[in-house]
Amino acid sequence: MTSRHPHERHTPHAAADTWRHVELPRITDPRGNLTYAESHRHVPFVIRRAYWIYDVPGGEVRGGHAYRELEEVIIALSGSFSVVVDNARASETVQLNRSYFGLYVPPMTWRQLEDFSTNGVCLILASQPYSEDDYIRDYDTFTAVCRESGP
Ligand code: TYD
Repeated sequence: MTSRHPHERHTPHAAADTWRHVELPRITDPRGNLTYAESHRHVPFVIRRAYWIYDVPGGEVRGGHAYRELEEVIIALSGSFSVVVDNARASETVQLNRSYFGLYVPPMTWRQLEDFSTNGVCLILASQPYSEDDYIRDYDTFTAVCRESGP
């Protein structure tokens, strides 16, 4: 969270990459603030899909899977929630609660969204259209694939 422009150090191929915060531009204005995100400028891939998760009842958990190829940036547009990220070597719980910070999640990362506040809205910018074939929904399969492709 401390580096000024972490998004400017992106690499186009992120397979061996890890999760990190991306700081998005902020145009502050007495009429209301504005934040935006552009492909390859603030988000280290071409944005091919956006979706959002909202009206999450207290205690519910979303996600709980990995993607083989998809990269994503997860943003708390409103309220807060936590993202548990795990690459089979390390895991971290990242709380998101500012609409000008995103969490970049590379492929082959198990990620789960939890602890939504009552007004929590989660925007996800994704590098691929929806494809069930790209999902790994079983954690043991995920760790096995990580072991096969690991160093
Ligand atoms: P999913 O990604 O499995 O969410 P979660 O892991 O939180 O359960 O998506 C839930 C359902 O929504 C799934 O059946 C597929 C559908 N879906 C789409 O049709 N398009 C999309 O872009 C997304 C994200 C999901």
